[in-house]
Amino acid sequence: MFVRLLHAAVLTLAAGPALAQLHISPNLKSGEQVYRQTCVACHESGVAHAPKFKDAQAWAPLIQEGQAVLTGHAWVGVRAMPAQRRHPKLSLVEFARAVAYMANQAGGDWKDPDVPMMRRIIGEAEKRIDHSIAESRKMKQHLQQLSRGKATR
Ligand code: HEC
Repeated sequence: MFVRLLHAAVLTLAAGPALAQLHISPNLKSGEQVYRQTCVACHESGVAHAPKFKDAQAWAPLIQEGQAVLTGHAWVGVRAMPAQRRHPKLSLVEFARAVAYMANQAGGDWKDPDVPMMRRIIGEAEKRIDHSIAESRKMKQHLQQLSRGKATR
């Protein structure tokens, strides 16, 4: 838990100054390539209720969330959807392309993210991380109160 928070904090700091020179490298994988190499493992068959590939019904509410929110949240990790730091070789841009590819295969009409979209995605991911940091702080405060005898449950 602590390591996750630490990661999150480092990431938040790193995103700040990097934003000014955010650019998209030409050597990155396409959304389809990333899907076939990584996402297919769970999304093809719907492991642990992962929204299935080409399942328009499953994807409709996700597409409704909008590209920036869905991509930012998925990257941080949603329930059984693993956080993407577990694939350190996959860049956020490549991840975002894969999300767009999957959304488009299920009825969406999203573009490969450009720089302004990447900024919005980073913003949404940061907001999500800030939220979980705040939640974790509350849990920690509760534990501290418990150990000092200030809370009984
Ligand atoms: C280890 C299995 C696994 C892999 C690999 C995986 N996912 Fe998922 N993904 C899931 C599961 C499970 C969910 C459903 C989470 C839930 O709603 O509880 C999910 C949900 C999602 C969602 C919807 C998130 C939301 O807000 O509900 C997106 C978008 C997504 N995955 C994108 C990707 C992309 C892109 C890749 C490849 C880079 C990928 N996933 C790889 C298991 C996986």
